[in-house]
Amino acid sequence: MRETLTLKDPETMAAWAEEQRRRGQRVALVPTMGYLHAGHLALVRRAQDEGDRVVVSIFVNPTQFGPNEDLARYPRDFDGDVTKLREAGVDVVFAPEAHAFYPQGFDSYVVPERLATGLCGASRPGHFRGVATVVLMLCHVTRADVAIFGEKDFQQLAVVRRMAQDLWLPTRIVGVPTVREPDGLAMSSRNVYLTPAARLQARALNQSLSDIAQQVQNGARDARQLENTLRQRLEATPGARVDYASIVDAQSLEPVAELNREAVAAVAVFFGSTRLIDNRRLPIPMTLS
Ligand code: PAF
Repeated sequence: MRETLTLKDPETMAAWAEEQRRRGQRVALVPTMGYLHAGHLALVRRAQDEGDRVVVSIFVNPTQFGPNEDLARYPRDFDGDVTKLREAGVDVVFAPEAHAFYPQGFDSYVVPERLATGLCGASRPGHFRGVATVVLMLCHVTRADVAIFGEKDFQQLAVVRRMAQDLWLPTRIVGVPTVREPDGLAMSSRNVYLTPAARLQARALNQSLSDIAQQVQNGARDARQLENTLRQRLEATPGARVDYASIVDAQSLEPVAELNREAVAAVAVFFGSTRLIDNRRLPIPMTLS
């Protein structure tokens, strides 16, 4: 088994990455906030396919949390994470300290515009500014040839792809399908917050999205009506408080009225103070004339 280095200092990280590139090795980055689960390990496997050296960053990024969000109580298990990543054969765990990564006087941010205004951006102002900024920093410090993201955070993936394109980032952005629990709940570090009762009710996210996808397969095309069905189904779930239930264009993330091109159904639902998100692509079946 290869040795797994744990690096905290951004300059040491950059020097290691430079050395790999000098040797002709492609660096693949998996950015995470830790508390790793099988979904993260799927990203690691994809990174191993895409690159010669794999860096996993563990950094609970303060700039993407709002003042009333769960930064302080975000679940952490650094030693457990490192063990999992060593067993998975990762080359480097990059875990900068917040005060070193954002030193005194830090003053520069990436501000995504249109893609960041709706959905999670509407209820988490400033969230994608923090995400885009830290992803740019992580790609830069790790000299990443490729960076791997989960499709569960599909708005994040869209924002990051656009940012990489707009800012001529030499990092290829790759999305990996959502990994689910056996009952369909999308894996998330935040699932740990759920009470046993809420954990059962949370199956409604995947179930309601699957129902909508089935209705589209069966010919439903009125996006507003489908959105209403989705929202009503979620609102009828005991303990659930719907943040949004939306159907948007898969590229622009703008609301759509009629499903005549690929769209995405996306939901965010609170159980107590725990906010879960999930989404489903809604491909339009080809009609044979
Ligand atoms: O998806 C996450 O865990 C975070 O938003 C990310 C991409 C690691 C940036 O902090």
